[in-house]
Amino acid sequence: MAYSPFAPLIAPSILSADMAALGDECESVIAAGADWIHFDVMDNHYVPNLTFGPPVCQSLAKRLSNSYPNVPIDVHLMCEPVDDLIRGFADAGAASITFHPEATRHVDRSLALARDLGCKTGLVFNPATSLEWLKYVLDKVDILQIMSVNPGFGGQSFIEESLGKIAEARDIIDTVVAGTDREIRIEVDGGVKIDNIARIREAGADTFVAGSAIFGQPDYAQVIDEMKQQITVG
Ligand code: DX5
Ligand code: ZN
Repeated sequence: MAYSPFAPLIAPSILSADMAALGDECESVIAAGADWIHFDVMDNHYVPNLTFGPPVCQSLAKRLSNSYPNVPIDVHLMCEPVDDLIRGFADAGAASITFHPEATRHVDRSLALARDLGCKTGLVFNPATSLEWLKYVLDKVDILQIMSVNPGFGGQSFIEESLGKIAEARDIIDTVVAGTDREIRIEVDGGVKIDNIARIREAGADTFVAGSAIFGQPDYAQVIDEMKQQITVG
């Protein structure tokens, strides 16, 4: 068992929130214990679904800067290409921007762009995508995001093979952060629930995206509390 040296974080995906009340939904889920707001951007090209763009992020960031200024907006780009959107979301107040390596011609350049614009950044790995993409860009990565479903929709089932990949990622990241002050997060996205989050943490993840598990329930605090209990080590 290889636990992350970093404190676990819960990042609710607003993909499953009530879109007619996004500001209220973000504030409710933060009051219920959310650490990050996960913002899923889909373009109907890289994935067969369409969500929201920088103006929606900007409105939410503006509202949260008053009510909860310390809660970052974590933008997950499921879009192709990515560079213009990295500029747009950095400008719109995103704290972190991750993207899929297959969706940009120049992975190193896109990571550097996000960093230069003041955001944390990282790569997202689809279930069949190899972690090999990381090899030469580890110095530019703050987040290693592992998809445990195929991207495009909320409410899908967790793909069990992801656990081995998370463990593989843990080994890579442990080697990089050991003896340094770097924080590289392993974020798992898709099908995370109360009844599997402990196994995902045991495999080595420290940041947990959950959409339908939280927004599908009447009491957000109850779900987040139970998730946090499940991932408390010791
Ligand atoms: C899938 C998105 C996920 C998704 C998570 O493409 O990236 O963030 O909304 O939703 P659940 O937790 O319902 O799988
Ligand atoms: Zn996502």
